[in-house]
Amino acid sequence: MKVLITGGAGYLGSVMTGELLKSGHEVIVLDNFMYNQNSLMAECINEKLTIIRGDARDEKLLKSNIEKVDAIFPLACLTGAPLCNKFSQEAKSVIVDAVELILKLRNKNQMIIYPTTNSGYGLGEKGKFCTEETPLRPISLYGKLKVEAEESLLQSGNAITLRLATAFGISPRMRLDLLVNDFTYRAVNDRFLVLFEAGFKRNYIHVRDVAQAFMHSLSNFNSMKNQAYNVGLSDANLSKWELCEEIKKLVPDFYFEEAKIGEDPDKRDYIVSNEKLEKTGFKQKFPLQMGLKELVKGYQIIKRNQYANI
Ligand SMILES: NC(=O)c1ccc[n+]([C@@H]2O[C@H](COP(=O)([O-])OP(=O)(O)OC[C@H]3O[C@@H](n4cnc5c(N)ncnc54)[C@H](O)[C@@H]3O)[C@@H](O)[C@H]2O)c1
Repeated sequence: MKVLITGGAGYLGSVMTGELLKSGHEVIVLDNFMYNQNSLMAECINEKLTIIRGDARDEKLLKSNIEKVDAIFPLACLTGAPLCNKFSQEAKSVIVDAVELILKLRNKNQMIIYPTTNSGYGLGEKGKFCTEETPLRPISLYGKLKVEAEESLLQSGNAITLRLATAFGISPRMRLDLLVNDFTYRAVNDRFLVLFEAGFKRNYIHVRDVAQAFMHSLSNFNSMKNQAYNVGLSDANLSKWELCEEIKKLVPDFYFEEAKIGEDPDKRDYIVSNEKLEKTGFKQKFPLQMGLKELVKGYQIIKRNQYANI
């Protein structure tokens, strides 16, 4: 198939593009490369990849590329609550308006697979798993915009929305602001971490499993369409404290403590059931410990050291 990925040079998109190409699909990446990322360089040799440097809100550009594809993955985003709060107008136009534009330009036979955040569940009920039936109560602007975009897509039809857990693992466009990636980086480099809201639980998923979930949805589109699916590791509904204990298994001299030094803007505290997706035959392949090992190894390579001699 031929797939257009807006934001395809991002953390998730860079891995997804590689996996789609490996499976023989053709990919058009439309990205503004706002982080100066070179994450797709290794894929450029592949004749099935087209790269377009541009804005996902550029109607003319979008139209000419949508016409060429079977499926669209709208990943372009100002990702995360802090970035959206800082650039709120831009966030609305990239997250909501760009999706509306895609819906206006595509024909109804073209499939859309969209990543929502499961921070849309906001403050969950203690001990109760969030399913796709659980009402969405996003707290941050980021969460609210993502939920708004998801609603438009599901109303329009011929779309699948994947409510992703917090992703972790290594991507050629690395993100150190994601919880698991961040904590592991601190464990490896600082050996200590002060946690706030240490008992708050969330669900996690490896970046490669996210790519597989998109491909699984593409392959099973007709039986899965017009619905939302949670995508996470069913055995990884962990509090921040429990996550640190998992990291400590690999970094034994990691020391962590709790103090009231902050608050999550999304107030994420929920546990999630991924049964609906699993019942469609999807199997996660990358457990948390495997991703943590990968990160510990990768952090021997990357360091935030541009203003230091070592
Ligand atoms: N990473 C996660 O844990 C997670 C969880 C849930 C949902 N998501 C969703 O998945 C998507 C991708 O997330 P990510 O982690 O890869 O984020 P990311 O920030 O790494 O990727 C976003 C990409 O969009 C591009 N972009 C931004 N504005 C653009 C514009 N106007 N035109 C074209 N390109 C633009 C950026 O250059 C970047 O490559 C987002 O929609 C995000 O909401 C991610």
